[in-house]
Amino acid sequence: MGLGRTIKLRNEFAIGFKFSEKSSTTLFQRHANLFETSSIHLRKRIFAPIRTSDMNTLENAALSSFGQKHLLGIAELSPQEIQFLLDRANEAVSVSRQREKKKSVLRGRTQINLFFEASTRTQSSFELAGKRLGADVMNMSVSSSSVKKGETLIDTAMTLNAMQPDLLVVRHQSAGAVELLANKVGCSVINAGDGAHEHPTQALLDALTIQRSKNSIAGLTVAICGDILHSRVARSNIILLNALGARVKVIAPSTLLPAGIDRLGVEVYRDMNEGLKDCDVVMMLRLQRERMTGALIPSIREYFHFYGLDAKRLECAKPDALVMHPGPMNRGVEIASEIADGPQSVIETQVEMGVAVRMAVIEILMENRGSNG
Ligand code: NCD
Repeated sequence: MGLGRTIKLRNEFAIGFKFSEKSSTTLFQRHANLFETSSIHLRKRIFAPIRTSDMNTLENAALSSFGQKHLLGIAELSPQEIQFLLDRANEAVSVSRQREKKKSVLRGRTQINLFFEASTRTQSSFELAGKRLGADVMNMSVSSSSVKKGETLIDTAMTLNAMQPDLLVVRHQSAGAVELLANKVGCSVINAGDGAHEHPTQALLDALTIQRSKNSIAGLTVAICGDILHSRVARSNIILLNALGARVKVIAPSTLLPAGIDRLGVEVYRDMNEGLKDCDVVMMLRLQRERMTGALIPSIREYFHFYGLDAKRLECAKPDALVMHPGPMNRGVEIASEIADGPQSVIETQVEMGVAVRMAVIEILMENRGSNG
C-alpha cells in the first residue's frame, strides 16, 4: 500500500467487512473475501456466527496457542482465538487484585505506546498492563496538529523501529493506519483504535465483562446504542459478539447509522424502547461530536429525550440487564447519571477488565515473539 494512501484511509465504515447473514451454517465456517473500497484493498476472513448449541464444540476445540504476530482487529480472529484471549485475560484479573501486582515475564522487553489521538483511559490501561508484566514502557503522544499525516506516521514508525522495541501499541485517527504501520516495523503491533475502524481490546474487555457476569455470550441479546456511525467500539463489538453467538441489535437515529449496517449481522432499530426489549446487555456509546461533520442531531436535549438511557427506558430491557459504556461518558447526553452509577452498571468493571485483557494480549504476543525475537 503506497504512502499517499494512508491519508485516504479515513473512511471508517467504508473499510468494512461483510458478515454472512445469520444462518444454519456450521460452526467456524468461514470463507475468504476480498472486500474492495475506493482507496484500499483489505483481505479479511469472514465467519459464520456461532449457534448456542455449538458452544460445546468451541470449548472442546480450545486452542493451545495463538498464532498471530499482531492484534489489529477482531475481524482477523477466529472464535477460538477470541476465546483463547478471553481465557488468558480471565486469569490475569487476579494479578491486578493481588497486593503484589508485578510479574517479571516481560523483563527486558520494551513497549512503546504511540498515540496520535488523545486518550486517557486506553493509554493508561496499556501502560499499567505492560508495567505489571515487567516491561519497560514508554509513552509517546503525538499531537495531531503536528502530524503531517501519512509521512509522519511512517517516519515516526521507522524511527521507533530503529530503537528495537518489542511491542508498539498504536492509536491513530485514520482507519487502516495501524495496519499500514504494522507492515513497516519488525515488532508486534496492537491496534488501540484506528479511526472508526476497530478497537479490538475494547471489544475483548467488553466480552470479558459480559462473560464473567452472564457466564456465556452465546444466546444473549445485546443492544449497542447511539453513535454507531463514528464508533470503532461498535464495529469491533458487532464482529466479536456475532462470532461468539450473540444476537446483536443496534439502536440509533438514521443519521448515526452507517450505510449497509444491516449487512454486519445486526438488527437495526430506530426506536429505543422497542430495541431494548428482551436485552441482556445495553451498551451505550458516546456521542462523538468531535468526529461529526454537519448537524447529525437536532440538539443534545432532543438526543437525550429519544436516545438517552434513563431509568424509565432501562425498564424496557430485562430486569437484570447489564449497562455498559466504553467511556468517556457524556452524562446527561447518552446516559443519565443515576444509570451510570446505578446497580446495573458494570462500567467500572469494564475498566478493570481492560487492564486484564491488555495484559493477556501483550503477554501472548510476546510469547509468540520467542526468546530471540
Ligand atoms: C473509545 C474510543 O476511543 O474509541 N474510548 C476508549 O477507548 N476509552 C470510545 C469513545 O471515545 O467514545
